Amino acid sequence: VPDLGEIRATWDRPEGWTSGGDEWSGAWGGTEALWRGTLLPRIERYLPAPAILELGPGQGRWSRYLAGACEELVLVDVAPYALEACRDRLAGHGHVRYEVGDGRSLPMVRDRSVDLAFSFDSLVHAEADVLAAYAHELARVLAPDGVAFLHHSNMGALRRGAAVARALPERLRRTATRAGLVPSLYAWRAESVTAAWFARECERAGLACLGQELVRWEYGRFLTDAITLLTPRGSRWERRPVVVRNRAFTRGAPPDPRLYGASPRSAASAAPS
Ligand SMILES: C[S@@+](CC[C@H](N)C(=O)[O-])C[C@H]1O[C@@H](n2cnc3c(N)ncnc32)[C@H](O)[C@@H]1O
Repeated sequence: VPDLGEIRATWDRPEGWTSGGDEWSGAWGGTEALWRGTLLPRIERYLPAPAILELGPGQGRWSRYLAGACEELVLVDVAPYALEACRDRLAGHGHVRYEVGDGRSLPMVRDRSVDLAFSFDSLVHAEADVLAAYAHELARVLAPDGVAFLHHSNMGALRRGAAVARALPERLRRTATRAGLVPSLYAWRAESVTAAWFARECERAGLACLGQELVRWEYGRFLTDAITLLTPRGSRWERRPVVVRNRAFTRGAPPDPRLYGASPRSAASAAPS
C-alpha cells in the first residue's frame, strides 16, 4: 500500500484521472445510481447539514451532491491538482472552501464546526496512523451533534489470507483470488487497519461509534472495506454500536435499518448542483 507521499503523487497529476472519479462508479451503474441508491440513503437522515467536511474529495464526484445539501462545504485533499478540478466542477458555489491538507491533520477546520464529515472511496489506502490522526481531529472539529461517515479499510482482518496470497506465484495467486480462496491484493487496502480497531481508536479519541458496515468491494468475496459512523460522545445520536455485514454493497444492497435508521426522510435538497 502506498504511503501518503505516493498517494499524493498518484492523484496530483492528470494521469491519475480519466473521468473525474466517475470511472469508479461502474459496478453500481454510474455515479448518479451510486449516490441515489447507496450513499444518500445512508446519510440522508443527517442532511441537510449546515457545515459539511469532505475528506479526500478527489475531483468532486460526491462534492457536487454535498454542496447542494449544506451552507458551508470544506473540501480537504492532499492533491492540489484534484482540488483544482473540484474548483472547476463547483464553479459558482461561493460556500465551498478548497484546502490542501497534509493527509492527517485539519488545522483549517474550526473546533466543533462540522455537522457532517464524509469520506467515500478515499481512505481505504490510509494506514492506521493516518486514520488515528483523523479520528483525533474529528473529535475536535465535529459539532456536538455532528456525525462522521467514513469509508476505510478492513483488510487487517484478512491479513493472514493476504500474506498467503502474497507468497503465491503470480499465476497461482490469480487463480486462488478468482476462486475466492484468498483476498485480492489488487484492492490495495491498508493492512494495518481493521474496522474493530478503528472503532476502538475513535472511542479513545473521545468519539462514540454508532456502528459499522463491513462491505465487500469489487474484488472477491471478502469484507475488505468498512464504513464507520461516528459522533461526539454525548451527542443526540449516541447509542450502542451496531455492526452489520454486507456482501452485496457494490450491487446496491439497501442500507441496513439497524445501522442507518428505519425511514430516512427525503433529502430533496441533496440534488447535484
Ligand atoms: C480514489 S480518489 C477518490 C476521490 C473521491 N472520494 C471519489 O470517490 O471520487 C482518492 C482521493 O483521496 C485523496 N486522499 C487520499 N488519502 C488522503 C488523506 N489521507 N487525506 C486527504 N485526502 C486523501 C487523494 O488525493 C485523492 O484525491
